[in-house]
Amino acid sequence: MFQKLEPLGGDPILALMAAYRADPSADKVDLGVGVYQDEQGTTPVLRAVTAAEQVLLDEQTTKVYVGIAGSEAFNASMQALMFGADHPAATEGRITTVQSTGGSGGLRVAAEFLNSVRPSCRIWVTTPTWPNHRPLLGAAGLDIREIPYYDAKAGAIDVPAMLAGIEAIPDGDVLLLHGCCHNPTGADLTLAQWQAVTELCVKKNLLPFIDTAYQGFAEGLDEDAAGLRVLAANVPELIAVASCSKNFGLYRERTGALSVITASAESAAATRSHLMKIVRAMISMPPDHGAAIVAQSLGDDALRARWRAEVAEMRERMRGQRRDFAAAMAERGFDRFGFMADQYGMFSLLGVEPDVIKTMREQHHVYIVGSGRVNVAGLTSTKLPYVADALAATLSD
Ligand code: LMR
Repeated sequence: MFQKLEPLGGDPILALMAAYRADPSADKVDLGVGVYQDEQGTTPVLRAVTAAEQVLLDEQTTKVYVGIAGSEAFNASMQALMFGADHPAATEGRITTVQSTGGSGGLRVAAEFLNSVRPSCRIWVTTPTWPNHRPLLGAAGLDIREIPYYDAKAGAIDVPAMLAGIEAIPDGDVLLLHGCCHNPTGADLTLAQWQAVTELCVKKNLLPFIDTAYQGFAEGLDEDAAGLRVLAANVPELIAVASCSKNFGLYRERTGALSVITASAESAAATRSHLMKIVRAMISMPPDHGAAIVAQSLGDDALRARWRAEVAEMRERMRGQRRDFAAAMAERGFDRFGFMADQYGMFSLLGVEPDVIKTMREQHHVYIVGSGRVNVAGLTSTKLPYVADALAATLSD
């Protein structure tokens, strides 16, 4: 059965991660896969997470199945984290939230759900978007289209083009936006722009689908959900996916949440039954450990405060690295990277030619995704001058 299979190319981001790990150079710098790195270049287990794990170790008495929708304590906490505790859609019982295997698992279940309700429905994504959106959504059968988003020359969103692109979407289609810390550009909508998008979604009866993988990494936990909350207050139906990989540092635990807002509490209950049927057919039930950690962390005042402080620490560090890198490049005669200081989250696009990325990797052991996407968390104070020197030298060649 398998004799005729040809090998496939690997996922570019994960292949880069493997190549970095295999590189024996002492100079190597990882600006590739989207994981946070601290000043020592490590991706730590958060202190709040370790404390929550200790509670689980002390108090958990069974590993029996939790259920198809996962932990209800986790689901309630994640719903409040995303939409706010008193969001009207929540108090009206119009939001249903189920646990997912990471943000990716939530995206995939949502895509299967959409395809079951409206087979091969069109979903519009930003140009560019996270490369894995295409396989995740496309494999479920959705028809993926693009709207303009990023203006690489300006290092910012092309807002008129984006709004015109949304205006041109056929009524009733699905629009996928990043809740914050746009991956790969780092270019986020302002609240006024979210409001303009909301008006268009209402006017055109579009279904907003918000992917939030970095809540807390842009301006703050509530600030980063402001756009989602405006949409949620104004549209009858919405899909939102959250990941706990980055803001809880739970990458390998595969922890996330999928929420669907519907026009009535009855539709929310019906939607939930459909989501559960899909989850049961795909994975039977989601894994528990990460969700139990999050539920424990968010359900305890002291742990929640500790976690919020750790998220703030990661956020401020990355914002500082953005400013420092833009300044370091300006000192070396390249002031065109100033836009990076104004962007958010882990990623920015350098806006350089592919041969620059190749030279950075082959001659300087600096690992950057082929699109020119850099993870600013990898620019620790020891690595930053090295990367700036290497980039300046490569660009001057
Ligand atoms: C990234 O964009 O680097 C992360 O979201 C990790 C991944 O799975 O691609």
